[in-house]
Amino acid sequence: MRNFSLKMNNFTALIKKTLVMNRYNGITLDEFIILKEKDYPDAKGNLSKLLRDIGVASKVINREVNKAGLVDILGAAGKTNIQDEEQQKLDVFANNMLINYLKNGGQCTGIGSEENEDVIVVDTPDGHQAHYVVLMDPLDGSSNIDINASIGTIFSIYKRKSPVGPCNLEDFLQEGNKLVAAGYVIYGSSTMMVYSTGNGVNGFTLDPSIGEFCLSHPDITTPDTGKYYAVNQSNYAFFPEHTRRYIDWLVNEKRKGLRYIGSMVGDMHRTLLQGGIFMYPATTSSPQGKLRLLYECIPMAFLMQQAGGRASDGHQEIMDIVPQELHQRSPIYIGSTRLLKRVDQFVEKYSEAIS
Ligand code: AHG
Ligand code: MN
Ligand code: MN
Repeated sequence: MRNFSLKMNNFTALIKKTLVMNRYNGITLDEFIILKEKDYPDAKGNLSKLLRDIGVASKVINREVNKAGLVDILGAAGKTNIQDEEQQKLDVFANNMLINYLKNGGQCTGIGSEENEDVIVVDTPDGHQAHYVVLMDPLDGSSNIDINASIGTIFSIYKRKSPVGPCNLEDFLQEGNKLVAAGYVIYGSSTMMVYSTGNGVNGFTLDPSIGEFCLSHPDITTPDTGKYYAVNQSNYAFFPEHTRRYIDWLVNEKRKGLRYIGSMVGDMHRTLLQGGIFMYPATTSSPQGKLRLLYECIPMAFLMQQAGGRASDGHQEIMDIVPQELHQRSPIYIGSTRLLKRVDQFVEKYSEAIS
């Protein structure tokens, strides 16, 4: 009898989940954001409006990405950014678009962007009263723009620490555990927005016929392992010993396949949906790795954690790192829990060998 009632409970739970998912499935991002606002009793709609502002800006960027090749938006902009990286025209366009929407939306008091050396203070009466700061990589995977491979936008949202008035750098240098929301937009075979406000991860696909992001991937959860690992294999000889040994284990013992797009958003999207691991480790020439902590590693770590995965720099959880500088870099190992656990074991075993 006990077995029967257990089966019945599972059956009703499955029906409930299917009904809830069907009810939600296909609703627009705006409807979903407003619907989910009810999960936060003291919500006043400011975060909802900020998320929708980012959604609108990404639709405008998507339009330019889709026209790239037809209009003069490909190629280098003839300038370099704070990272001393050659800016692509689309980098500049995406950065300007997001800054405009965030400045005019009234919900953002300041912006930290990969493309700007200092934080951008929204020095308006609305900006002085606004509650949130946004950190962003306006266009991730720039090297893939001209060859039509997946690129994306990555964003993080924190509540400001300063009371009111012009924001300051301290409002931005916050650890991942303080995040209010984070997400990315991937401009690929279809354009998707994937985000979390700390209550699970949901994916929305842009339906060009109505110009709306519609819920297509409710409640994304990352499997505890996966078929693929993603790393720039050409750096293998320059990785720490623990990482080289770990990659050897993935390939020779676990027979994992290598998939690497060269856009963090693309490699992360596959890992989030299918499991596996994405790594950008330290190398002898870049001891802090390449990826930026505040607007690449932390937002992706937040999403992965919300989806049941993990992210570390090899020694500590990404979400625990307290940022010291706006553009600081961090090594990152992110993905399925079982594969991250193995990273810990290889680091423990082979880091000891060095000391
Ligand atoms: P961005 O285009 O914003 O500078 O980011 C590029 C990053 C990231 O998207 C990707 O994972 C990594 O660079 C690839 O670096 P390598 O080309 O060195 O593998
Ligand atoms: Mn990037
Ligand atoms: Mn970028």
